[in-house]
Amino acid sequence: MKDVEHDTTHGELHAELADKFDTTAMATETTLLNPRFYTTDFDEMDRIDVSSVREDWDKLIGQMKSDPNKGHFKKNADWDEVDWKGMDPALRSEFIDFLVSSCTAEFSGCVLYKEMKRRGNNPDICELFNYMARDEARHAGFINDALREAGMAVNLGFLTKSKKYTYFRPKFIYYATYLSEKIGYARYITIYRHLEAHPEHRFHPIFKWFREWCNDEFSHGEAFALLMRTDPKITESWQAKLWIRFFLVAVYSTMWVRDHARKDFHEALGVDIDWYDQEVFRKTSTIARQVFPVEIDIDHPRWIPGLRRMNAAMITMEKAKRKGGLSGRIAGALAGARAGLAFASLYLIPVKRNTPPASVRLEPSY
Ligand SMILES: [Fe+2]
Ligand SMILES: [Fe+2]
Repeated sequence: MKDVEHDTTHGELHAELADKFDTTAMATETTLLNPRFYTTDFDEMDRIDVSSVREDWDKLIGQMKSDPNKGHFKKNADWDEVDWKGMDPALRSEFIDFLVSSCTAEFSGCVLYKEMKRRGNNPDICELFNYMARDEARHAGFINDALREAGMAVNLGFLTKSKKYTYFRPKFIYYATYLSEKIGYARYITIYRHLEAHPEHRFHPIFKWFREWCNDEFSHGEAFALLMRTDPKITESWQAKLWIRFFLVAVYSTMWVRDHARKDFHEALGVDIDWYDQEVFRKTSTIARQVFPVEIDIDHPRWIPGLRRMNAAMITMEKAKRKGGLSGRIAGALAGARAGLAFASLYLIPVKRNTPPASVRLEPSY
């Protein structure tokens, strides 16, 4: 009897949550801040010749082939029971948003990498993208299992078919994907280390999996660093430097705005969002010296005020969109202009110049 009762409560909660959070719709929606799906010129990427970085390449591929995390993404005795019902509703809502957005980002990598593997003929490229797609499928699947426990799994098959794809030229894919892999590493390891020191804030078991997880992202980033090294034009021309600067500001400021929308989530983790984001930027920028000739000066007096202005403008834009009508459109346009100015001000902060080392490869060290 007790079990039946328990199941019914679970069932009711599942129905209630599934009703409230249409996670597939959340993942499918295209907004400025949601993780996107990408497509590119796969033929051009297939023509990459990795022979100039062969030694490092073979080592990295050998490591990926050995598949150190093969058994990692499975629930085991460390997976404590999650009290979805008892969770504060505001925290629950932000946490679900965090899981859905992380799952979408992981799955976005999976879709892009799998497509490259499917379309390619170059054995080096196909092998790399095969391993990376394998890892991202595991990551997305593991997050989705956590959502499934509460009856809220994202329908990934549906997502593949119905989400809008954004086209990026291969070199933009390198900048954006390299950065998102290294940021992924920095985010996962920073949360992991924080919770290692403050286990009382670990309100969900998934965080225990972050250490091995972040090493996958680190290797993926290494692969893109090597790909960029095959052709000096990708990072060294003056246009490349301007684009890298653009991607750094865009990716960092998007992360800032997205994280600052999850106040209760970070409070539950015991993490100050400003500190956390700066810490992730710092780790990412330090790692990115391996391949990027420019670095954002995140200690510049205009950096954080610019990010705050950007965040305020984005919040106003969102409110104006919800309000609708003529006044909503006007308010939205004004806020859009303010966001543009904030972006320009961040972009124009003088960058630090950097000469990437002769040997590109790094090992995870945080
Ligand atoms: Fe991943
Ligand atoms: Fe990755």
